[in-house]
Amino acid sequence: MPPITGRAKVERLPSAEDRAGAKTRLDLAVRLRRNRKAEWSRRLVAEHRLSADDLIWPLFLCEGAGKHEAISAMPGVERLSVDLAVRAAERAIKLKIPALALFPNTDPGLRDERGSEALNPDNLVCRALAAIKREFPELGLVADVALDPYTSHGHDGLLVDGKIVNDETVTVLVEQAKVLAAAGADVVAPSDMMDGRVGAIRRALDQAGFIDTQILSYAVKYASAFYGPFREAVGSQATPKGDKRTYQMDPANGNEALREALLDIEEGADLLMVKPGLPYLDVLWRVKEAFGMPTLVYQVSGEYSMIMAAAKNDWIDGDKAMMESLIAFKRAGADAILTYFAPRVAERLAREA
Ligand code: PBG
Repeated sequence: MPPITGRAKVERLPSAEDRAGAKTRLDLAVRLRRNRKAEWSRRLVAEHRLSADDLIWPLFLCEGAGKHEAISAMPGVERLSVDLAVRAAERAIKLKIPALALFPNTDPGLRDERGSEALNPDNLVCRALAAIKREFPELGLVADVALDPYTSHGHDGLLVDGKIVNDETVTVLVEQAKVLAAAGADVVAPSDMMDGRVGAIRRALDQAGFIDTQILSYAVKYASAFYGPFREAVGSQATPKGDKRTYQMDPANGNEALREALLDIEEGADLLMVKPGLPYLDVLWRVKEAFGMPTLVYQVSGEYSMIMAAAKNDWIDGDKAMMESLIAFKRAGADAILTYFAPRVAERLAREA
């Protein structure tokens, strides 16, 4: 191995004559810049590449027909009525995006203490799942298992005497998972962070005959300020009483993420997720390294909105920041990425191909 450092033999500033004769050249055998000198070379040595195959596109749903509603905190993202969600599904297929994740904005009149609407087999997300499955059976459909779009208090679980009760919540989540699978979800994604829910959902799905329904566990989900815009999107921003720190993880913890992931693997999770994304790349890397599981990452609403806001102000180049943030997930070990940029990235990748 040649030495990787070279000593400068320069005692004075280079003159024009020096520069011409390259007298100031350092005596370096190793120059990492050689491989970066041209686009063709950079392409050859790139360690990671982003493809449409890596993307899951999260979609927000609203009631009505022909309806698309802007979400002020998420420029470029809209809530879609079921018919328009079907058109978005068609766009996903054209763009070679493998799967959608669906999130309903439930009518406030249908929200209650217990989140009962979650178990209605004809609720908004179930109607969207069924409509998309009917037209595009080949497109993967992911549906969240959690009660927050349905509860009047905005929590993911049942609230009893000011506490989110774990085991009672799991009994409801199990029913919700079956309802979603029956409606057409290929993947159910518990995002609630109750203990033991993956195992309970697996058993219930199997008993009900849904042995092929995958479980994507939000195994490592932090109590994060970056979910802010999502709560506007699903209409739960006005409602949460208190915060979610008794069930979502403390941002200070890394080792605990490995325990969360391990438990979900033992309970039968097919796919793991780390969420949010960029502030938790270390956690993503550790989970992927420790278990080698299919590991997804969620670039959450606040991460999307920060890039969009800075780009809108011309403080950063939005397209470049988008691509950089996504390749960072690949480098940190992500197998796939949930991102609101999915259609924009996929379009860009298709143009470049
Ligand atoms: C609900 C859920 C949340 C997100 C996905 N599923 C919000 C929360 O837990 O408060 C956040 C996604 C995003 O911010 O993009 N359990």
